[in-house]
Formats: sequence, C-alpha cells, structure tokens
Amino acid sequence: MFSETKEGTTRILVPKQPTKSIFYNPKMELCRDIDIAGVAAFVSSLPSRRASLRYIDALAGTGVRGVRIAKEVGLFVAINDRSESAYELINRNIELNEIGERAKAYNENANVLLLQKNYDFVDIDPFGSPAPFLDAACKSVKKMLLITATDTAPLCGAHSGGLRKYDAKPLNTEYHKEMATRILLGRVTRDLCRYDRAIQPLLSYSKGHFIRIIAGVEKGAKKADDCMKRLGFIAHCFSCGNRFAFSCSDMLEMEVKKNCEVCDAKIRIAGPLYVEAIKEKRFCERVHEGLEKRELGRKKEAMKTVATCINELDIPFYYDYHALCKSMKVPPPPISSLIDDLQLNGFSAGRTHFSDTALKTDARIDMIKDVLKK
Ligand SMILES: C[S@@+](CC[C@H](N)C(=O)[O-])C[C@H]1O[C@@H](n2cnc3c(N)ncnc32)[C@H](O)[C@@H]1O
Ligand SMILES: [Zn+2]
Repeated sequence: MFSETKEGTTRILVPKQPTKSIFYNPKMELCRDIDIAGVAAFVSSLPSRRASLRYIDALAGTGVRGVRIAKEVGLFVAINDRSESAYELINRNIELNEIGERAKAYNENANVLLLQKNYDFVDIDPFGSPAPFLDAACKSVKKMLLITATDTAPLCGAHSGGLRKYDAKPLNTEYHKEMATRILLGRVTRDLCRYDRAIQPLLSYSKGHFIRIIAGVEKGAKKADDCMKRLGFIAHCFSCGNRFAFSCSDMLEMEVKKNCEVCDAKIRIAGPLYVEAIKEKRFCERVHEGLEKRELGRKKEAMKTVATCINELDIPFYYDYHALCKSMKVPPPPISSLIDDLQLNGFSAGRTHFSDTALKTDARIDMIKDVLKK
C-alpha cells in the first residue's frame, strides 16, 4: 500500500496509488526544497534559541513538510491532518526518520489547532485556496508564514471568486501570475494587521500550478499600520497594454485617472493588492547559498528559480514581450538584447521568474514599443 521515497535527506512513506485520504504530490518537492533552505536561512538570522522554535504543518498529508523541517532544519514540529489515515502515516514517517523527540502528529481540524496555540512558523499547504485557514494562521503565527495557493483561477481573474475569497478584484492580464501572488499577499497583510502583526515578504514565487509565499511576521500596531501602506491597486489598459500601480493612500488623496494617458481608452483597476517588494534580496541570496550546500532532489531548478528572484526588479507587474511582439507583428528579439536596449535607453529592465518570455521594466508601454520597433 505504501512505498518509500526520499526527499532531501528524509525518507518518506507515500501511498503507492493516489488515495482520497492521503495526499502526496511529488511535483511539490521543488517547493519543499526551497522551504527547507528558506526556513533554515530565517532561523540562522535569529538571535539563537533554535531549540525552542516551533513549526506547524497544519495540513500535512503524508507529513513530508513537517518531517523534513524537523530532520533537515532541526525545529520542533507539529504535523497535523484531519484525515485519520493521513495521521497514522504521519506517525509512521516520524518513526521512520527517528525524530520522535522533535515531532508530534495531530489529528485535528487545522483551524482549531491554530486558534488554540501560537507557533513560530505556520505552514498552510491546502488543496486549492488557503482562504479558510488564513485568519487562524495569522492569529497563531509569531515569526514566519509559509502559504501555498493552487486556486489560481479566482486569484488571476479567470473566474469570479477573487472578491469572495480574497476581498480583492483581480484582472485577467498577461501578468496574472504576479497579480495572483500580490492579491494573496494583500489578503494576508490585512489578516495579520487585525492581530497587530506586520508582514515582511521574503520570497514569493509561482511555479506551474502553485503560488508560494514565505514571509516574516513581526508584532506591533505601528508596524502593522506601516505595512498597510504597502497595499494599493494596479490600473491596466486592455486597449494599448499600459499599466501602472498606485498605493491606497494615493487612491484616497488624488483623483485616479479614468482614461489611459497613452491611448485615452478606459482603464480598469485591480486590487487591493500588495504593490511593494515581494521578496527581500539578501534573504533570497541566503536561501540560494543554502540550496547549494544541501542534498536536495530538485536543487538545480530550485537554485534557478531563487537566482531569478534575487535579481527581479521590485516592479509589481511584467510584460510578456512575445505577446507584445505578436500584436505589433514584429519578430521577438532575444530577451537579453531587449533588456540591453531598454537599459541603453535609460530604463531599468530585467527578467522575471514568473515567465521566460516576460520582462520587468519601468519603461512605459509606448517606450517599450518604440524600442521593439527599432
Ligand atoms: C494538499 S494536501 C497537503 C500536502 C502536504 N502539505 C505536502 O506537502 O505533501 C492538504 C491536506 O489537508 C488536509 N485537510 C483539509 N482540510 C483540513 C482541515 N480543515 N484540517 C486539517 N487538515 C485538513 C487534507 O486531508 C490533505 O491531506
Ligand atoms: Zn491605453
């Protein structure tokens, strides 16, 4: 019924056939590899007391995340799943890795557990939307939140549901993966603020079907107020592709233009969402160093993703230049030469991990088109 597999230096029993009650997705090993280096980098930046730090994998499936954190990072872990067969397997995986003194399995509703106790690290890795767990996670967490979302359709604006689940309106643009990441971060920012906690996004990324945010959390009403200032909106013109971001305070203080300043068509607004940096460069560099040193199954891909995040410009959207070239009926140049040309014209420009055919730049759409026409 079970077979043994290995992730990092951890042995894990997983169901031989996918079952309804125990979930294991080998494709998420990349995400777990990045988590290991991410949690380790964060712990090493704390002023000691590693021994007392507590992590919870609130929706654990086989328990692979929590077991790996106990074994490969050395934290005390609570590993929870409401499915009884998952709970039994978690116990077997704890035993298999001989981490019984650092790991405890629970068979509870995640929200009940999180509302009862504070944890330094809270990991929410659900099927689909994390929305039903965000309030309890934000009440429980003391130092770091790790959250996955796989419900990219409502977050991206492809379905209704963005407003219902995230209190925000997404737009279905070509940079929907980043919009989804920022809408999720915006919702988490507001949920944390209700408990006088402030978010510090450390590494936020999207790969394939999932979005993952890794964020530091600090206590304090003043800090929480400050991070609310990092929320805002993105205005997008579906006629010419112009886009710009503005903060919530701008929204209150200035009159936001209703028409595009490039082509005068009506602009549409997405948000509220997180409009400032979604990663901390130095943290990402430390994660990258950690990935390099560790034994990991998806090391190469993990290092490539994090390396791109390190250098990503802190601009809240990107341009799919292949789509842009197609609409202009010009052949797409190599991405590196377009980035060079934009920089030669005085703009910032660089790649984004969100897409291989996209770039971030502070050049306005008409400037990008001018550079592409040359
Ligand atoms: C996507 S799986 C977890 C995968 C796991 N974190 C991993 O990395 O392999 C989601 C799990 O959440 C569990 N679950 C769903 N709702 C829950 C709840 N309210 N409380 C506790 N567990 C829940 C399901 O039984 C399922 O095992
Ligand atoms: Zn326009």
